[in-house]
Amino acid sequence: MGRIRFLHLLLCSVFLGVLLKATWAEDRLISPSKLKMFVDELQDMPRVFSYEVVNGVTKSKPLTIGMYRKKWKFHRDLPPSRVYAYGTSKHTATVPGPTIEALHGVDTYVKWKNHLPSKHILPWDPTIPTAVPANKKGIPTVVHLHGSIGEPQSDGHAGSWFTRGFKERGPTWTQRRYHYYNAQQPGNLWYHDHAMGLTRVNLLAGLIGAYIIRDPKVEKPLRLPAGPEFDRTLVVFDRSFRVDGSIYMNSTGNNPSIHPQWQPEYFGDAI
Ligand SMILES: *[C@@H]1O[C@H](CO)[C@@H](O)[C@H](O)[C@H]1NC(C)=O
Repeated sequence: MGRIRFLHLLLCSVFLGVLLKATWAEDRLISPSKLKMFVDELQDMPRVFSYEVVNGVTKSKPLTIGMYRKKWKFHRDLPPSRVYAYGTSKHTATVPGPTIEALHGVDTYVKWKNHLPSKHILPWDPTIPTAVPANKKGIPTVVHLHGSIGEPQSDGHAGSWFTRGFKERGPTWTQRRYHYYNAQQPGNLWYHDHAMGLTRVNLLAGLIGAYIIRDPKVEKPLRLPAGPEFDRTLVVFDRSFRVDGSIYMNSTGNNPSIHPQWQPEYFGDAI
């Protein structure tokens, strides 16, 4: 009898062990020690100019920037990762997105377009207030220009989200084209997704980019090395990856009985 019970216990624990191992395998993360440092060339993101000079006059040049799902290689030894990327086309879309070059005192106009498919590449948390399209299809996005002093309707309010082709729109959505004044001090800003409840997963998926306001009147007297060869934008971010290259987002909450998925912070193990 005793032996049978022991055997039973043994079998149960083996079974449990296999189960645990299976869930662990699903989240098999790549150890950052496997990713050798300084083996990839530093990427220079495409620059898009929101102004042009016509017959000696500087004027706004309206931009259209889309959000696309594509594959992106983050490291020589990582398989390509599925990402969401900003770009003027799917082919040229990058993570981080193109650097927007603006000029102090010249308005920037951007039509932000959502080309994302219906299902998210990352787990999102349905237990917190979140933008959810009525037909449950599409990925809500809205762009916030971080650090910009501007009009509220172009500020990327969390409720002003929209899905692919503006099919569904959040409660505070007002316009397709955003207007940035660039009337503030020159400097480096960044743009990123800001949709209600989805900001962290949309950023994690790749929806970030740099925005530079230049002012030659301020910069020229400094006599710093200038031009694309010297003046390069660095965007630093952390991510965790599975061995198959996919971006890892922990979908087990740290307080599972209340919010099964809620994680208050994200720390990736590779930069
Ligand atoms: C995911 O989060 C849970 C809860 O905080 C934690 O117990 C678990 O270790 C995390 N998993 C990974 C792979 O980091």
